[in-house]
Amino acid sequence: MAEVIWGLATSHVPAIGAAMDRGKTEDANWKPLFEGYGPAREWLAEHTPDVAIVVYNDHANGIDVDIVPTFGLGTADRYEVADEGFGPRKVPDVVGDPELSLHLLESLVDEGFDLTVFQELDVDHGLTVPLSVWTPDPGEAWPCPVIPLLVNVLLYPQPTAARCYALGQALGRAIASYPKDTKVAILGTGGMSHQLAGSRAGFVNPEFDQMFLEAIESDPAKLTSLSREDYIREAGSEGIEMIMWLIMRGALREQVRRVHSTYYVAASNTAAALALFDNRVPQPAV
Ligand code: DHB
Ligand code: FE
Repeated sequence: MAEVIWGLATSHVPAIGAAMDRGKTEDANWKPLFEGYGPAREWLAEHTPDVAIVVYNDHANGIDVDIVPTFGLGTADRYEVADEGFGPRKVPDVVGDPELSLHLLESLVDEGFDLTVFQELDVDHGLTVPLSVWTPDPGEAWPCPVIPLLVNVLLYPQPTAARCYALGQALGRAIASYPKDTKVAILGTGGMSHQLAGSRAGFVNPEFDQMFLEAIESDPAKLTSLSREDYIREAGSEGIEMIMWLIMRGALREQVRRVHSTYYVAASNTAAALALFDNRVPQPAV
């Protein structure tokens, strides 16, 4: 039986990838962010999964904004790195796992999540920056195959936090029903608070972020009770990306162990964070 071994939440700010690609991680303004990743990276290097599911949003790079699926799943055997205007990042293309993708797709559709299927997809910073946060020096290949799970956080109406958490729970069941002994990791990406345009451009809300960072571990219901308007008001129009962390959390067990977390303001215009959870911990008796 397949098993989820860990969950990682991380911001996917493009400037984080650019700082790595251009050798700026030791610069004074970047150093604290990358130092904050250290303990998580060490633990992750000892816990390589067989496959990772990356919950992310495309930013009109891999898919046109005239087609905006609420939820989508990649089923390809390979995903190229998208050109976001400056040429593709010089990181490895992403190898897929079509067999697990098709199992997840069938299981999730049967549970009422009618996902859009991506048989072809170029992946943007939303997916590649989290892979770089996890594995700064991938060499020729990322540590394992990856399945992209896409969420619309760009255009109104975004899915609710509660729906995202329910999708995560269904994803957890789908993984558990996969007959192979596959170790799966789940990444939830985006956030934390940020707003890139409009009269509140540059808005961050550290108090809300800290509340979210705490509750994602032990009280996800507090976060699923918030409306999309609550997220946009409290975290900014792009801070609503945090609902994708709830898909990751929903796929984990009720009790998880926080391995490490870190928070940094501001990466680009954005409050950035990482939170890593070990899913293989004893559960409370029922
Ligand atoms: C920024 C943050 C994002 O999450 C994103 O997708 C694009 C830009 C930023 O802070 O610049
Ligand atoms: Fe984003």
